[in-house]
Amino acid sequence: MTAAEARVTWITGAGSGMGRAAALALAPDRRLALSGRRQDVLAQTARDVSDAGGEAIVLPFDARDAGAVSAARDELLGRWGRIDELVLAAGLNSPRRTWATQSVDEVDQVIGTNLHGVIHVLDAALPALRASGSACVVVVSSIAAWRFSPVAGVAYSASKRALAAVCETLNAQESAAGIRVCHLCPGDVDTEFLSLRPEVPDAEARERMLTPADIGRAVRFVLDAPPHVRIDELVISPVVRP
Ligand SMILES: NC(=O)c1ccc[n+]([C@@H]2O[C@H](COP(=O)([O-])OP(=O)(O)OC[C@H]3O[C@@H](n4cnc5c(N)ncnc54)[C@H](OP(=O)(O)O)[C@@H]3O)[C@@H](O)[C@H]2O)c1
Repeated sequence: MTAAEARVTWITGAGSGMGRAAALALAPDRRLALSGRRQDVLAQTARDVSDAGGEAIVLPFDARDAGAVSAARDELLGRWGRIDELVLAAGLNSPRRTWATQSVDEVDQVIGTNLHGVIHVLDAALPALRASGSACVVVVSSIAAWRFSPVAGVAYSASKRALAAVCETLNAQESAAGIRVCHLCPGDVDTEFLSLRPEVPDAEARERMLTPADIGRAVRFVLDAPPHVRIDELVISPVVRP
């Protein structure tokens, strides 16, 4: 495959954690567009992709801003002319997770990022995904979407559960266009995200968790499936040893 034929993958949350790990797992044979809010961490991921022999461009935006997402899509298509894959890992939570402690403003930010942000990128990319003919999307959701997780929080749980419906509606309505969507539900992963917990886990607790690379490998497994194979949902848990 020549570089010009490589599939084009647009990753959100690409500056850290699972989005970054997905970029590194895909670097050898995809052209990567990296999005998130922080330009500096996205640029570092792009350098690491380049060091791994890959090609990446940086398209910073706040996923809650639909206009900024559309502008990034236009820049991406101007550069490479196609979008074949999405990895939607941008996400947010708040330490204030209960009805007693949350504020409506924070609820809006969490739902705006986890649900509306995902819908904004999907909506912007959909015409190009249809044109791809064999597009594949990984929505990085959460184990809190798969079964009730009492500590995940009101806004987080609601937004991640809604992603299941986002994936199901796409698979029901867009499979004729060759689009396949996977609802990826990780358990605890040792990333920056843990600093948003009411009680931040210590090093010992983190050692028992999944790593970002575990998820990067799973994302690659989903995206590498042949066009007639759809992995609807994937739940990944760390194995707890006594
Ligand atoms: N860590 C876990 O235990 C765990 C478990 C299950 C699911 N998840 C989910 O996994 C996904 C990835 O999280 P992670 O654990 O890898 O943590 P992370 O390193 O904090 O990644 C989250 C990413 O989202 C980006 N982001 C946040 N708000 C954004 C916005 N408004 N617009 C654009 N980008 C935004 C952040 O970059 P900027 O700050 O630069 O924007 C960051 O790179 C999230 O959706 C999270 O809900 C995490």
